Amino acid sequence: MNAGEKIEHEIAQHALEEHRAVRAQQKQILAFIEKGVVGSETEWASRCLDLFVPFFDHLREHFSVEESGGFMKPVLEVRPTLHPKIEKLKQEHVEMLNTGHLVIDRLRGVGDFKGNMDEVRERILGLLSVLAEHERAENRLLVTAFDIDLGPGD
Ligand SMILES: [Fe+2]
Repeated sequence: MNAGEKIEHEIAQHALEEHRAVRAQQKQILAFIEKGVVGSETEWASRCLDLFVPFFDHLREHFSVEESGGFMKPVLEVRPTLHPKIEKLKQEHVEMLNTGHLVIDRLRGVGDFKGNMDEVRERILGLLSVLAEHERAENRLLVTAFDIDLGPGD
C-alpha cells in the first residue's frame, strides 16, 4: 500500500467506525421509542430529550466532518462521477437535521405544539430509518471509491 492509499484507507476506516458508533446510539433510541410513551408525557419527553440530544449532537458533528473532507471530498477526488450521489447524501443531511431540530422543539414544547408524543415518535422512527439507509449508501460509496473490504457486520 502506498502513502496515498494508506491515507484513503484510514479515512474509510474512520468513517466506518463512526457509522458503528452512530448505530449504537440509534439502537438505544429505537429501543426507547418502541416501548411507547410510558408515564406522563412531560416525563417521557424529558427522558427522550436526554437520549436524543446527545445522539443528535453527535450526528451533526458527524455530518459536518463528512462534508468538510472526512470522506466526501476524497471520494470526489478519486471518483468525480459520484458527484450526484454525494449531492443526494448532502441533501439528506439537511433533511435529517431539519427533522431533528423539529423533534427537539416539540419535545421541549416549543411553539403551539400540544404535546402529541406519538407524532414525535413517528418522526424519530422516520429519521432513524432514513439514517440507516443513508449510512448504508455512504458505506457503499466508501467501498466503491476506496476499494476497501467492509468486513463482517456491515
Ligand atoms: Fe455518515
